[in-house]
Amino acid sequence: MRPVLRPWAAVLALLTAACSGPGPATTLAPAPGTAPTTTTGTAAVPAGRVAGAAASGLGDPYFPTLGNGGYDVDHYLIDLRVDPERSHLDGTTTITATATGDHTAFSLDFAGPDVAAVTVDGAPVEWWRDGAELWVGAPLVAGEAFSVAVGYAGVPSAFAAGSPGFPTGWRSNDEGTYVVAEPDGARTWFPANDHPTDKATFTFRITVPDGTTAVANGAPAGTETAGGLTTSVWEMAYPMSTYLATVVVAPLVRVEHPAAGDVVLGDYLPPAMADEVPEAFTRTGEMIEAFSAWFGPYPFDRYGHVVVSGLPAALETQTLTVFGDEWFSTPYAEFVVAHELAHQWFGDAVTPATWQDIWLNEGFATYGELLWVEHLYGPEARQAEAARRYDDLAATDHALTGDPGVERLFGTSVYQRGALTLHALRADVGDEAFFAILRSWVERHAGGTAATSDFVALAEEVSGRDLGALFDAWLYAAPLPPLPSP
Ligand code: ARG
Ligand code: ZN
Repeated sequence: MRPVLRPWAAVLALLTAACSGPGPATTLAPAPGTAPTTTTGTAAVPAGRVAGAAASGLGDPYFPTLGNGGYDVDHYLIDLRVDPERSHLDGTTTITATATGDHTAFSLDFAGPDVAAVTVDGAPVEWWRDGAELWVGAPLVAGEAFSVAVGYAGVPSAFAAGSPGFPTGWRSNDEGTYVVAEPDGARTWFPANDHPTDKATFTFRITVPDGTTAVANGAPAGTETAGGLTTSVWEMAYPMSTYLATVVVAPLVRVEHPAAGDVVLGDYLPPAMADEVPEAFTRTGEMIEAFSAWFGPYPFDRYGHVVVSGLPAALETQTLTVFGDEWFSTPYAEFVVAHELAHQWFGDAVTPATWQDIWLNEGFATYGELLWVEHLYGPEARQAEAARRYDDLAATDHALTGDPGVERLFGTSVYQRGALTLHALRADVGDEAFFAILRSWVERHAGGTAATSDFVALAEEVSGRDLGALFDAWLYAAPLPPLPSP
C-alpha cells in the first residue's frame, strides 16, 4: 500500500477554493473594442468597416467580436525579439490563411502595441485599427491562400476585460515575461483569428538577450546565438487554438524526466528550483500512463511545465503548461499537475466550440483530479472526494454549468459541478460506457472543436441511453440534482 502522507480530503478542500471562482479582476489596460479609430497606415482610409468587408467577429455567445469571418488560418509564424527587462517586443507575425469568402477587406484581432507595417503576399497594403480589430484593406477571394504579415513593436498590456480571475495576455515582472491568454488575451501579443475554433499550426522564433531562455509550445527546432542575442525556434505541429499559445522568457533550466512511452517529458524551471525539482513534477509520467488508460493515448508527443512567478494559477498551454510558482507553497500542487495534464486531452486536443462550452474544459480537467485520487487511493476515495465537493457546491451560490456567463466563466460551477456532471454520467452509464465515451470524444474531435450538444449526442450514442434529462438537470437547471453513488 502507498503510504498516505496527506489526507487527500483536506488537501483537495484547499484546491477547490484555490482553483475556482474568479478573484478580483485588475484592469491593467483599457478594455479593447471601445477606442475610436485612432491609427491608420495611410491618410485616407475609412473608419471601421467598409462595404463588402468580412465580419469582424465569429458571433461567440460570450465574446461576439473574437475571431473574424472570411478566412481560415493555416499557420502562424511569430517572429519576435523580446527584451524581458522592459517587457518590450519587436517583430513580425506572418499568418498563412485560406479565404472562405469573397471580401473587400478583412480584420485580425489585435490589441497589441504599435503597428509598423502590414503586407499581403509581400506587398504593402492599407490598414487601420478600430479598438481590438486590425483591419486590412486587401481583397479576399474564396478558396485562395494568402499570407498577411504584421510588423509591430512596443510593450503589450495584459487586460482583464472579459477575462475573469487575472489579467490575461502578455505579462511581465522582475523574473521575466510570460503569456497566459485564456480566454481572450492572445490578441495582446500577436494578431490572430482569436477564437478557439480556428486552430492552426505555429512556428515561434524568439530572440532574447544572453542570460535568458525563450521557450514556447511544441518542439525546440534549433537556436542561433550572435552578438549577445539568442534566437530559439519552436514548432507546434499539432493544430492549436490561439489562447493556448505561450512564450516564456526568463532565466530557465531544462530538467528532463524519463519518457512516458513515446512522450518526451521535461520541465523548464527557475535555476534555484532546478536543483530541487518539486515533487509534484516527478509523477507526470505516471499520470500520463494512468490518464492514457482512461482517456486514450496522450494526444501530443511531448509534455512539461514552465514555472513562472507572480501567477496565482496555471494554464494548460498546449504541450507546455505555464505553472505559477505559488502552488509549491501549498500541498495540492500535484493535483494542479493532474488537472493541467488532463486538459491536454480536454481543452487542447478537443477544444470547446464556444466559450459558453467551457465546462468541457474545466469540468473534465477537474474530473481528472478525482481520477488521480482514484489512482492513488481507490474508487471509494474518489467517491468520498466527489461527495465532499458536492457538499461544498450545495452550500455555494453558483452559475449554470452549461451557461455560466462571462463573469463566472472560471467559477466554481464550471469546475466542480462540471466534474460532478461527469461523476453522475459515470454512475448512470457504468464504467465501461463512461470511459468509452471519453475515449471516443478524443478520438473523434482531437485537432478540432466540439460543443456540449456533440458531447451529449456522443454519450447517448455510445451508451444507447436517453441522457437528455441527466444533462439538462446538471448543466442547465439551477437546483443541484442528488449525488448518485456509483
Ligand atoms: N484554464 C485554467 C485552468 O487550468 C484557468 C484559466 C483561468 N483564466 C482566467 N482568465 N481566469 O483552470
Ligand atoms: Zn482548468
